[in-house]
Amino acid sequence: MSETLRTFVAIDLPAAPLRDVLGELAGIGRPVKVVAEPLHLTLKFLGDTRRADLEQISTALKGVCVLHAPFEIEVSGIGAFPRPERPSVVWAGVSPAEPLAALAADLDAQLAPLGFPPEQRAFHPHVTLARVKGRPPQALAETMALYAEESFGTAVVREVMFYESVLSASGSRYTVLNRVVLGASAPPA
Ligand code: 2AM
Repeated sequence: MSETLRTFVAIDLPAAPLRDVLGELAGIGRPVKVVAEPLHLTLKFLGDTRRADLEQISTALKGVCVLHAPFEIEVSGIGAFPRPERPSVVWAGVSPAEPLAALAADLDAQLAPLGFPPEQRAFHPHVTLARVKGRPPQALAETMALYAEESFGTAVVREVMFYESVLSASGSRYTVLNRVVLGASAPPA
């Protein structure tokens, strides 16, 4: 068994309201590749993680999650990184940003002492739907325009997921390492 794994902390998002747009993206074919499920919003990418540190990380996650109450989010609109005219990641937006950014900032702060450097990039809450490796056909711009203002519904965020990501030629596979509920504290003794 390898000493390290590739890990990240995320929030799961329901795929059902995104089925139509995912189907259209999948229908475009190469070079557009729809991501593996579960669809998720990454709060903190840890990358290479020592197996020996997993327990300590889970403890840190619990320490953060207990301080954040469950909250509602809306998934809406389609965009792309680095920019819509040159898409390499196609995403749906997630709002409001504040509770997500607060969680991400706390995770950054609590995981830094365990050797995971704080994120330098601005936090942009999104759920990745597809990756584009090369020049996309016009159909991608058309699909993005079609769903640009679409609401994909709301969801209540009640827990935070700790995932292992296994990369392979056919794409990523995600395995749950731990799940931590938000806002739950131990009952009084
Ligand atoms: P993304 O979908 O927003 O790109 C597992 O790989 C998750 O971690 C992906 O959903 C991805 O988020 C995120 N991720 C992958 N590599 C990353 C990196 N180098 N920095 C930050 N997030 C990363």
